[in-house]
Amino acid sequence: MRKKIIAGNWKMNKTIGEGLALVEELKPLIAGKAYVEVVICPPYTALYAISQVLGGTGIGLGAQEAFWKASGAYTSQISLPMLADAGAQYVILGHSETRGRFGVPEPELTPDLLRTFGETDAGVNIKAQATLAAGLIPILCVGETLSERQRGETDDVVRAQVLGALAGIAGAAVAEKVVFAYEPVWAIGTGETCAADEADRVCGVVRHAVEMAYDQTVAEAVRIQYGGSMKPDNAADLLSRPNIDGGLIGGASLKAADFAAIVTAAG
Ligand code: PGA
Repeated sequence: MRKKIIAGNWKMNKTIGEGLALVEELKPLIAGKAYVEVVICPPYTALYAISQVLGGTGIGLGAQEAFWKASGAYTSQISLPMLADAGAQYVILGHSETRGRFGVPEPELTPDLLRTFGETDAGVNIKAQATLAAGLIPILCVGETLSERQRGETDDVVRAQVLGALAGIAGAAVAEKVVFAYEPVWAIGTGETCAADEADRVCGVVRHAVEMAYDQTVAEAVRIQYGGSMKPDNAADLLSRPNIDGGLIGGASLKAADFAAIVTAAG
């Protein structure tokens, strides 16, 4: 039985003070829900302060990105040992807002999405390896753009992202540690949710890709979240599907009541 995992991706929101206030609001709302793994992913600047108030709550702490080298002349970057030092146990990798789609006309991408950081499947892979080596849990994001979906390429795109992310990683580590997040790019921050049947189907494609890379045991163990406009009113439906083991929540994770309602829906 896979334990459901609900992670809040705060993106570039919340000062330290605002983040602490949100956590204080959240604590009583999700107390006693140990049957769900709850993670919050604040911006780097708030990680350490928030780590100091999570003790005893069971709430996990994650970062939204990482660099794969441990230290060195890499201006602007944050390493995995640094994230662990700040109290993080998880890290989101390959979020569509960090992936590059250069050379591919993507008229539906917003200017914000076009201004990506150029993340690639190979980059996600090397960072996933470094994450596991540092003892953290990677949350690996995959998902198709609207035009890829319209061209019928969803399954191929997602499969390639999964296999690319896992290259060279041992099956045992995948089974025990790795979390995937299927996030159709067109559903992120748009209010457009992928229908639960389809979200479940594509999460099944992710699971099948893991089986192709390893075996059925690893595929059955790996947890796969859905992300993209998950909210209190659609969470229960999505989270009841056999291949959906949790959610990666953006907008709704910024409101304690909404995030807590999603956690409750996972129970
Ligand atoms: P959203 O974001 O819930 O605001 O759509 C999800 C994500 O980007 O992880």
